[in-house]
Amino acid sequence: MVRQGNTTTITGQRSAVEGAAGSVQLAGVSKVFGRGRSAVRALDKISLEVPPGEFTCLIGASGCGKSTLLNLVAGLDQPTAGKVTASGRVALMFQEPALFPWLTAAGNIDLALRARGLGRVERRQRTAELLDAVRLTDFGAKRPHELSGGMRQRVALARALAQDADVLLMDEPFGALDAMTRDLLHDELDRVCAGRRLTILFVTHNVQEAVRLGDRVVVLSSRPGRVVDQFDVSIERPRRIDSAPVAELAAKITDRLREEMSRDTRLRAGVGAGLRGEAGLARVARSPDAG
Ligand SMILES: Nc1ncnc2c1ncn2[C@@H]1O[C@H](COP(=O)(O)OP(=O)(O)OP(=O)(O)O)[C@@H](O)[C@H]1O
Ligand SMILES: [Mg+2]
Repeated sequence: MVRQGNTTTITGQRSAVEGAAGSVQLAGVSKVFGRGRSAVRALDKISLEVPPGEFTCLIGASGCGKSTLLNLVAGLDQPTAGKVTASGRVALMFQEPALFPWLTAAGNIDLALRARGLGRVERRQRTAELLDAVRLTDFGAKRPHELSGGMRQRVALARALAQDADVLLMDEPFGALDAMTRDLLHDELDRVCAGRRLTILFVTHNVQEAVRLGDRVVVLSSRPGRVVDQFDVSIERPRRIDSAPVAELAAKITDRLREEMSRDTRLRAGVGAGLRGEAGLARVARSPDAG
């Protein structure tokens, strides 16, 4: 883990963490799954830059290619066209904690440290620090089934941090949690991010969550995903998800998202009759402002 000391605070602005290492660039990235009539165009010529230290949230309709985009950045898949560049070490955190059930919370974190080649003494120390960071100091010896959903997700966060990532990719990490637990984890994410050199790309369906956490919210079109709008979040931190400024900006982004979704629905309803299959729908959805 690279620390910057205790003095760094993340403000509402972009690139606020001095000296942060990781960054992400997508240049004209398209991804098509399958071939011929059954081909699905998941992403269409996406260009996006996440500068070092920025917390960027991605928002868009289900199936618009958000997870596909994160998988490409993580190097789990290759783009059909365009270029994906991620500088620094990249870690991916999923909606489900995906912990090894036979290992304790500490054991799951230790495994990530072991993969980095750390020795036993250092691993033990780092595991204790990471358990502290996610407020699970007394739960290291518990197995996943002995922990609540929120606690399991905190272990997953600690394990992601154990990878010493410069870029953290988070795919709806708090989507399955109740509002109260999610709220606590937002605070914890703020806390663990402060002072660490982290660049974050965070996918969520929850617009208020995006505004609560992000320096910037990027709105994607319905499939195939393209960037249709971007909103800088200059609301001062610490933020509350139920505060007036967060609600106000979230309403504006929701309106933009609705506009995009209804445009997509109109297109599919109006021209879809003569077209069959995913490839046809994808072509129609892209047609009005393609290129
Ligand atoms: N491995 C794959 N093979 C074939 N099609 C895929 C594959 N992965 C994703 N797709 C398709 O690509 C499109 C985008 O999927 P993706 O999972 O990226 O969407 P998403 O925006 O993350 O959706 P959600 O918000 O529901 O998680 C979908 O139509 C999906 O069916
Ligand atoms: Mg997804």
